[in-house]
Amino acid sequence: WRLSSLLVLTLLTGAQGQAVIPTVLPTLPPLSAPVAAEPVGDSIFPALGQAGLDVLNYDLDLFVDRPGTSELRGTVVLTVTATKLLPVLSLDFLGPQVLEVRWNGLAAPYRHDQTLGKLTVAPPQPLLPDMRARVTVRFAGQVGVRPDPDLPLNVGWQAVPALGGRVGANFTLSEPDGTRTFLPVNDHPSDPATFTARITVPAGYTAAASGVQRSDVAAPNGGRTFTFEQAQPIPTYALAIHVGRFGRVDSAAVPVGEGGADVIRRDYFPVGVPAGTRDAYVSTGEILRVLADWFGPYPFSTYGSAIVTPRVPALETATLSTMPVTSSNVRVLVHETAHQWFGDRMTLADWSEVWLNEGFATYAELLWAQAQGETGDDMVRGWYARAGRNQTRPLVATTESELFDTTAYIRGALALHAVRMTVDDAAFKAYLRGWVSEFSSQPVTTADLLTYTRTRLGAKAEAALRLWAESPELPPMPQR
Ligand code: ARG
Ligand code: ZN
Repeated sequence: WRLSSLLVLTLLTGAQGQAVIPTVLPTLPPLSAPVAAEPVGDSIFPALGQAGLDVLNYDLDLFVDRPGTSELRGTVVLTVTATKLLPVLSLDFLGPQVLEVRWNGLAAPYRHDQTLGKLTVAPPQPLLPDMRARVTVRFAGQVGVRPDPDLPLNVGWQAVPALGGRVGANFTLSEPDGTRTFLPVNDHPSDPATFTARITVPAGYTAAASGVQRSDVAAPNGGRTFTFEQAQPIPTYALAIHVGRFGRVDSAAVPVGEGGADVIRRDYFPVGVPAGTRDAYVSTGEILRVLADWFGPYPFSTYGSAIVTPRVPALETATLSTMPVTSSNVRVLVHETAHQWFGDRMTLADWSEVWLNEGFATYAELLWAQAQGETGDDMVRGWYARAGRNQTRPLVATTESELFDTTAYIRGALALHAVRMTVDDAAFKAYLRGWVSEFSSQPVTTADLLTYTRTRLGAKAEAALRLWAESPELPPMPQR
């Protein structure tokens, strides 16, 4: 105990920066060796997250005073526990300046390094397994910046400036590690959590977020506060928050939840988008039915899309896919909807495993086409040709620029097709449903899928998957 406390205080007091040491803390002699919290150990992003930290819930109070800018203030309360003794808490946070940190309500020492993107907090005593704590972080200012190496954008909190007659807007686009640009989080998919978000916006604006809307009330500043509850755990990058001038379109609930439970349907369209933008979203209910038939019950309480105007990639934000106007077509919508099972409900143990998200979501495009009466042969041939034109590699990624490449999407989908070609469709459907139902409680790996494939479908199916997963070359076209 004592040693840990000494280390903690050294870390916090020994540093330059904005360390705030409340007078109630004992002063201890400094130690020379600094301690650093151990990150999760991701093979692509070795600095992300904290090993042994388990965030159960993020409770957010966000104020977007000037939509369309990068200004954000708010308070987040993290309910945390640990899987091993943690002398300090180390959160990922590039974002606005920290004003205050509390541990179970009491002011706590902290150090915020906005360049490293770490907020280190010293608890009064180490966090132990099965102990719970509430950590409050209040912040205000400009959000952090995290460029994407492959896209001309920064991931995380997006600002769409007011332009001409258009009002400003903001939204999240965080995969893989952008949530830390605006919230202090354990920013790794192996630690999914529930979220409650209260978002206060000026008069005339609407806020939307992952989960079910619980209230929409007048705020003291003349604006409104919208409250959303995401009651099932999701990875941090999948958190959707949108602020803008929107029309919400409610549609009939779809009975594809657990035990046939109704899934609430709502979509958000910014005012002024072309009328035709809405056409694709009419299919959302049917997409949910087709995918729930292949994958098992839809895993959340609500589903829909929030449409955004910038040309960005679509993103499978939980319960509320983020859909650019320019990607508002059924095929992209099918893909993002499939990610609700693969990525949002089932989460990755390591970013190198991201083909487990992208391969399944891409494969859903084929399942949808076949449900529309197509053979799908053209699509599979198209995939194979495209995979052949591009550089190939084993499915588990080794660099950041491989995460969202053709291999993750197309070779990933073909690997699943190769498994399907070893069995009949009834067995393949049971296999997909079993993968979701048996492996959703823990973050997944390719090794899990290989083991599961052998157990469920036998050695031939496993060998097919292994060839597609591991061969340095592109394997031959899968055939029944
Ligand atoms: N998961 C998204 C999709 O396929 C793609 C996100 C790409 N993100 C990135 N940072 N490159 O639907
Ligand atoms: Zn995808």
